[in-house]
Amino acid sequence: MSRSAIEGLSRSALFSKTPEYEAQFWTAALNHAVGKIKTNIPTFRASYPGPASTGNVYPAIPNVDWTASFWTGLLWLAWESTGDNGFREAAEACIPDFRARLDNRSHTETHDLGFLYTLSCVASWRLTGNSFARATALKAADILMIRYYEKAGIIQAWGNLTDPAQQGRIIIDCAMNLPLLYWASEETRNPYYREAAERHIKAANQYLIRDNWSSFHTFFFDTETGAPLKGTTHQGYSDDSCWSRGQAWGIYGNALSYRYNRDPQLLENARGLARYFLNRLPEDLVAYWDLIFVDGPEERDSSAAAIAACGLLELSAALPAIDPDHRLFEQGALHILGSLAKSYTTLAMPQSNGILLHGVYGKPQGSGVDECTAFGDYFYTEALVRVIRGWKPYW
Ligand code: GLY
Repeated sequence: MSRSAIEGLSRSALFSKTPEYEAQFWTAALNHAVGKIKTNIPTFRASYPGPASTGNVYPAIPNVDWTASFWTGLLWLAWESTGDNGFREAAEACIPDFRARLDNRSHTETHDLGFLYTLSCVASWRLTGNSFARATALKAADILMIRYYEKAGIIQAWGNLTDPAQQGRIIIDCAMNLPLLYWASEETRNPYYREAAERHIKAANQYLIRDNWSSFHTFFFDTETGAPLKGTTHQGYSDDSCWSRGQAWGIYGNALSYRYNRDPQLLENARGLARYFLNRLPEDLVAYWDLIFVDGPEERDSSAAAIAACGLLELSAALPAIDPDHRLFEQGALHILGSLAKSYTTLAMPQSNGILLHGVYGKPQGSGVDECTAFGDYFYTEALVRVIRGWKPYW
């Protein structure tokens, strides 16, 4: 794999300084998020916020989408932050429902079982030792493994394995689904899950990351021969542009894989993706929905900013203290998060049941454009918890 040198960081002067927010600023931001989560508990009992809001209000939907666990993830974060058992009870009430989704094979033909079962059941097991949640997460890992193509060493993202439109397609988001597999290997001492995760991230990095450290959203492989075919987009501006949230998934996903297997190349991949992302941010550091845009009237994607902030914090913590990026990435995350907390929240919008404004779910699809997003809310809150109290990941 030969790539151009990772570009320098254009905002290194800004990121070498700690942003000037007082401790109260950060705690007020977290209190706002926790307050919204608490208010939302009665609305989402036995249901979940949809992936994106309409007019900044989420509908309540059943457990059918890839985003249901961002709600349980928020409940767990709020419980850890406050000790208020109402959050824990609400999160635990969702676990049988996550189990039923697997038992009924309802909406399980997706690689997003990683997102779904990490932020619900793995979190439950890690935080409270709930063995039913552990067994459920292991079952999810087994169902996810059905999507693994041994020959190509990849996990198919979407749809039925026989669907010609989806066969052999990977997407950069999948990096976030791999922690479920690493965790399953640790729990069972069966290396099979981990080998699949390692082969997938290797193939994803080889083919989804372009020579200049931008990324394709999706890439197709021939599942019979394992041959790489072509890169395309689904939610980005064009096949050869760089979808902001995808780049953010790549930063965070590589840093998380490093947590499990300590392959230094993963850190270099995360570094290259991070510098490319950080060098294409507008003045207030909240990315446009595609990094092809650096100014002008296109929408921002606050969720990409929040995911990148979590990824930069994870990456920074993995880099040694003598690496200049250790500090630059940490401060960069604080600058981005501070900008979100200052100007992108629903603090002054009591009619909204979301936390973070101005996300984009799928611009080409016209879906959830300039709305709250379930993932934006979750990663914004995760980033706040990381910087305010320190945090042991559910991932
Ligand atoms: N993983 C799907 C998305 O980021 O929209």
